[in-house]
Amino acid sequence: MNSHFSPVALEHASRLINHGPTVLVTSAHGASRNVMAAAWSMPVEFTPPRIAIVIDKRTYTRELASASGSFGVCVPGAAAADLTYAVGSTSGRDIDKFARFGIAAMAGPVLGLPLIEAGCVAWLECRLIREPHTEDAYDTCFGEVVSAAADPRIFEQGRWSLRGDNADLHTLHHLGAGNFACAGNVIQARPLAGEIAE
Ligand SMILES: Cc1cc2nc3c(=O)[nH]c(=O)nc-3n(C[C@H](O)[C@H](O)[C@H](O)COP(=O)(O)O)c2cc1C
Repeated sequence: MNSHFSPVALEHASRLINHGPTVLVTSAHGASRNVMAAAWSMPVEFTPPRIAIVIDKRTYTRELASASGSFGVCVPGAAAADLTYAVGSTSGRDIDKFARFGIAAMAGPVLGLPLIEAGCVAWLECRLIREPHTEDAYDTCFGEVVSAAADPRIFEQGRWSLRGDNADLHTLHHLGAGNFACAGNVIQARPLAGEIAE
């Protein structure tokens, strides 16, 4: 696999998404593959690392993820805002989004899922956790993270490093109707007056 990302320890994998970035959910089954945008994602378990993503039951992504038992999560940077909106506004049932939007994908190391690095700053491969009693009722999908990697220019030593010199890589946070805020203003918390600093 030809990648310039560095591996992320699975114990840190949930940090790749726990500041609430909009993500790209990738999926593949047989000869079909797809990608959509998802603003609703979060970590839900520490060990093994598990995440939840809302994938509408009507989407083609959900169909492929259910059929294959897996999905990928790619974290787009600010420079990929247009692409993120485009894959969130079209369905893979109508078009091959990879071909239409010129998206390069590589095969993930564990599950072989299509993963996107150009314009993205991190990815995770997830095994879909099947929840028979909720699967038909809810759009929420749970996944166990089995591999993860991130661009070391912005995620290093298990933490995001959002700086002025890597603004193009800052993550996107969807506000609705194609408007995004970028993560960026980092502030270091200090002990409150009277609190004993550790
Ligand atoms: C910025 C953005 C965020 C979105 N977030 C979600 C989400 O969290 N969950 C969801 O099911 N759909 C979300 N959508 C809508 C899907 O991306 C959209 O339905 C997409 O067309 C599904 O593609 P598919 O049929 O190829 O799977 C979002 C769309 C955009 C543009």
